[in-house]
Amino acid sequence: MTDSQTDHRDVERSLRAAGWTPCGAGDWAIALRSPDGRTAARISPFDPTGPYTAGLYRDAAATRQVPELHEHRRLAGGGDLQILEWLHPVAQGEAAAFHDAIGRRAPEVAELTDLVRRWHARARAELPWCGPLDTNPANVMRAADGRLVVIDLFYADGPNLYAADPRRIAALIPEPERRFMTEIPAAASGPWEEHEREALRRALAAADAGQAG
Ligand SMILES: Nc1ncnc2c1ncn2[C@@H]1O[C@H](COP(=O)(O)OP(=O)(O)O)[C@@H](O)[C@H]1O
Ligand SMILES: [Mg+2]
Repeated sequence: MTDSQTDHRDVERSLRAAGWTPCGAGDWAIALRSPDGRTAARISPFDPTGPYTAGLYRDAAATRQVPELHEHRRLAGGGDLQILEWLHPVAQGEAAAFHDAIGRRAPEVAELTDLVRRWHARARAELPWCGPLDTNPANVMRAADGRLVVIDLFYADGPNLYAADPRRIAALIPEPERRFMTEIPAAASGPWEEHEREALRRALAAADAGQAG
């Protein structure tokens, strides 16, 4: 299903055809739930931070404070697919306390904090746009076995990235890695109107044509 040509739409289409159902949306990604209810697919049309998140999930697996990552794939055009264990939302206060513990490197999350800082520093060094840690309460969730986990801590600094001069975006992010940057769901910060998406698409296409010429 995920060869080098597969993009976020292909993945969503084939998972839905196999009975997966919508179960969440954020700014960058939607999530689908598997028919047996045990697995979630996080599908983003454009997420430069996906590999760093996946790296953190792998390195921090032994802490059990990140979700189990069953699979990670980069998708054609700059999207990102993560197949994760199924998680439930938690109350805001509980989420805030967990973020706070990570922030101050409390003993019970010290190993996690060290790995978060290492992967975040790497993302910030390597990506032209990378925001601070995303301490949104929706990013703390509970696994089926009852433990709390943190998800989705890294993001591509949407407010600054999307406000940047399209020529700068075109110069700093190769086209195959941002083909679908106007297709992010923007479910938390939106709505992002279709005419605004179209305007950015056109500006990027013009910048790409200018660079090529
Ligand atoms: N493993 C999961 N189990 C259940 N729902 C999930 C899971 N991962 C993500 N979600 C849902 O999808 C939403 C978006 O996922 P997230 O990784 O936070 O992406 P975004 O970058 O868009 O914030 C979450 O707020 C949550 O509702
Ligand atoms: Mg999120």
